Amino acid sequence: MAPDTRPSEKLDRAVIFLGPPGAGKGTQAMELARHFGVPHLSTGDMLREHVSKGTPLGLKAKPIMEHGELVPDSLVLKMIVERIERPDCAHGFVFDGFPRTVAQAKYLGELLKQHGFKRPFVIHLVIDPSVLMRRLTGRRTCKVGGEIYNIYDRPPKVPGTCDADGGELVQRPDDREEVIGPRLHAYEKQTAPLAAYYRRLGLLHDIDATKKVDEVSRQVLQSVHSVRGVR
Ligand code: AP5
Repeated sequence: MAPDTRPSEKLDRAVIFLGPPGAGKGTQAMELARHFGVPHLSTGDMLREHVSKGTPLGLKAKPIMEHGELVPDSLVLKMIVERIERPDCAHGFVFDGFPRTVAQAKYLGELLKQHGFKRPFVIHLVIDPSVLMRRLTGRRTCKVGGEIYNIYDRPPKVPGTCDADGGELVQRPDDREEVIGPRLHAYEKQTAPLAAYYRRLGLLHDIDATKKVDEVSRQVLQSVHSVRGVR
């Protein structure tokens, strides 16, 4: 008989990763989603897929993303509703890059209630801004499976090739220095206020994201386990 590879732990809620570009949201969200066997929902990845396929949504989002600005809430919210209603989200999911405005967060709160989910668990990746430029300019992503590397701190075994599936590693167009500035500005202005919003609701958990990837993952998992109901 084949070994049972189903995860032994249940999430049964949404986990939200909050933090500036380069804080490690994608890296940690992917790991946590794998651990619990639930979908990793990256609005950035979803939008990039629309852009690469040239869908009507992608055509609207492309110039906005190229300038490091946020895509309008109306477009993002429609995408999210469609995604979380799929059966694979029934036992929870991990958001990466959503919500990003207080309006998105309020909408999500209602949506989760309507679908019978518990209150979300919000992980705030706290990081010294001085390390973000190195993380972003050094990032390379697998074209096939989306695995995230860094040429300085997390290099693949073979340069340009994913260790997991042999896919080509590419640099994101918005990881150029001239786009990183506007992205960080958009974060400070539109997304950073979300930390105060979720703290007031008692849902925010701060994690030091300056530490090494494995140490951050350990702290994230410990934090998720500290919440009653996640077994
Ligand atoms: P999105 O794709 O969400 O990008 P972002 O928020 O700018 O975040 P990043 O993906 O750049 O960083 P990350 O925190 O995930 O870091 P990562 O783990 O990759 O959004 C892109 C665009 O889409 C937005 O600008 C906007 O236009 C649009 N958009 C998306 N969602 C939207 C929404 N909800 N509303 C409106 N518009 C939206 O790590 C970065 C690098 O650091 C990697 O190389 C990694 O290997 C390395 N690293 C990670 N952790 C560590 C560590 N602990 N130590 C050393 N290196 C590390």
